Amino acid sequence: MALWSGRFQEQVGEFTQRFGASLPVDKKMYAEDIAGSLAHSAMLAQQGVISAQDAEAIAEGLAAIRGEIEAEEFPFDINNEDIHMSIESVLTQRIGDAGKRLHTGRSRNDQVATDTRLYMKKRAGQLMEANLELRRTLLEKAQQHPDAVMPGYTHLQHAQPVLFSHHLMAYTWMLARDFERLAAARKAADANPLGAAALAGTTYPLDRFATTQALGFARPIPNSLDAVSDRDFLLDLIYACSVSCLHLSRLCEELILWSSSEFGFVTMADSYSTGSSIMPQKKNSDFAELIRGKSGRVVGDLMALMMTLKSLPLAYNKDLQEDKEGAMDAADTLEDCYRCAAGMVATMTVNGGAMMAQAKKGYMAATDVADYLAKKGLPFRQAHEAVGHLVLLCEQRGCGLEDLTLEDFQNESPLFEADIAGCLDLPVIVAARTTYGGTGHEAVKVQMAEAQQQLESD
Ligand code: ARG
Repeated sequence: MALWSGRFQEQVGEFTQRFGASLPVDKKMYAEDIAGSLAHSAMLAQQGVISAQDAEAIAEGLAAIRGEIEAEEFPFDINNEDIHMSIESVLTQRIGDAGKRLHTGRSRNDQVATDTRLYMKKRAGQLMEANLELRRTLLEKAQQHPDAVMPGYTHLQHAQPVLFSHHLMAYTWMLARDFERLAAARKAADANPLGAAALAGTTYPLDRFATTQALGFARPIPNSLDAVSDRDFLLDLIYACSVSCLHLSRLCEELILWSSSEFGFVTMADSYSTGSSIMPQKKNSDFAELIRGKSGRVVGDLMALMMTLKSLPLAYNKDLQEDKEGAMDAADTLEDCYRCAAGMVATMTVNGGAMMAQAKKGYMAATDVADYLAKKGLPFRQAHEAVGHLVLLCEQRGCGLEDLTLEDFQNESPLFEADIAGCLDLPVIVAARTTYGGTGHEAVKVQMAEAQQQLESD
């Protein structure tokens, strides 16, 4: 019989019991549920609501239950509906009346909100660790290849040459912002609903500040209705996960392109590739594709919870039971994606030669040649047009800007002199971009030092 069965004459059927249960999802929060119960019962004893002996029996019983759950020996039963009633009913079977007093001044509504906040605080912290690990890996890879020049793209067309290290570093900054978002989500979860009871607070002299301190929360939630119905903290966490997954999907999309025969910029390690069951030659970037694909599901988790919360009246409604599965999925998925991406990046081979070969195509020196003329006094728009003509000439001849003679240049503008050769050399072009945040070698070094510093302080 359910713990709440007093006013019922009939039980729900086997199917509805299973349909209504959340145990398969919320059993992951067993440690938080036990921590919440320990804090609650200790506080009840402190306030004289239950006896010290009862609190002691509860603490002993809960410690034993925790051990059994961890040893996978706990008698879980779907008829107990959720982790809260699973633990409480087994505790009560074992310690009798003391167990029955644990729920004094408490409701599953504040209990589940408390467990979920504790759990997600922990998960956000773990995600932040995994985030740091991936940033470290990207930074190391960039440091291992400080000079490789690759095409920089806009519209996926060759634009201007950039350092591979600069390109990779761009992702460390996205991930650094994701770290901040995860930290903000952790902070949002860091408030204590316990003591709100079902919705209105309680007549027992509960000390909510004591449980707040015992559970390591920053503050008690000041409104009991808000305490049991607020799930913003989950939206914040899933949003943070979604944005980071989107960043990973962009990284992976590039890795997939770069490891294709058309690019050949990187070679994925065999351990991060898969073959084909029919085509013997195939080596596919499956894991990068999977990360790219999983981002869709995580964004779906965000949409799903937003829709669940839309128009939901105060206070607790069973709809809220749907909150945990998506949030847990988003956190688990992002954690795995971080780990997989770090492994992929650490083990991939960077083919600087292939990058340079591609960088030579597409007249990527054109902007610098135009700047050369502009610096000699020609208005930039005119310089732009003159270099456009030179590009056209190259297209007609099927050659690159570096293959034109000085005479070709001078036919277009008498301002060209022999030193134009310096503007056609890709490493020189790259190195010249010395402004803060630019792709020049020196600027990238500054950026790497900053990223390193932030990694250490995060
Ligand atoms: N399993 C429930 C959930 O996850 C716990 C709270 C249930 N409260 C209630 N009044 N039915 O939301």
